[in-house]
Amino acid sequence: MSASQQDLYPNKLWVETPLIRSPHLSSHLQAEVYLKLETLQPTQSFKYRGITHYAQHALRTYGPDVHLVIASSGNAGIAAASAAKILKLRCTVFLPHGVSQSTIDYMRKEGAEIVIEGNYYLQARQAAQKAVDADPKAVMVPGYDDPLLWEGHASLVHEVQQQLPAGTRPDAIFCSFGGGGLAGGIIVGCKAVGATNNGRNARLELLLPIPVDERWAIHWRRRLESQPEWNDGGA
Ligand SMILES: Cc1ncc(COP(=O)(O)O)c(C=O)c1O
Repeated sequence: MSASQQDLYPNKLWVETPLIRSPHLSSHLQAEVYLKLETLQPTQSFKYRGITHYAQHALRTYGPDVHLVIASSGNAGIAAASAAKILKLRCTVFLPHGVSQSTIDYMRKEGAEIVIEGNYYLQARQAAQKAVDADPKAVMVPGYDDPLLWEGHASLVHEVQQQLPAGTRPDAIFCSFGGGGLAGGIIVGCKAVGATNNGRNARLELLLPIPVDERWAIHWRRRLESQPEWNDGGA
């Protein structure tokens, strides 16, 4: 990690992950393709970056009694549970039905309390919001839509900038898209490092998994259209 990154994220809990060139994808796509190995984060996903960043901010702002509450169907909840364990904070994860037992066990092992509510993420999130409203020590940890979270996720762009061969600027960044937090972090990071191509923003392509709820796709579609720096053709 460069000196400037140390300054940006002095107490970071995530690890710098390798950026590797993929010979197979590069030859298949006739382009230089690099993969950022976020599965090597302590909780096996990029979520750990933004969520630990958010949790540290909550601790600084509200003190050691702060109660982290999050709604998640998986990786965000695991990241929050793990952040809470390291920071010695209380954490409750609201999950919809259907989350695998191994995920639940992982969160419990990290010391999180688990509440299972509803069949969909949004129902679990409503229940989490009620719990936050009823507990003055609770804060809702965002899964995808908060500037602090994006600031943490943006660290991966700072790393990529340092890791690419000298003089290389990406023409496009591909990422998967659920609630849009990863994409938001990449945009924040690209802006911070001035990642533009001849004055244009680098293209961001989003690989859409099955959406949690089609309302998110509509919501993000509107946001994309209202923000010129997003490239159309993504979500
Ligand atoms: C491994 C992984 N990649 C990508 C995503 C999509 O991220 P976001 O919801 O920030 O768009 C998720 C979301 O759960 C995830 O767990």
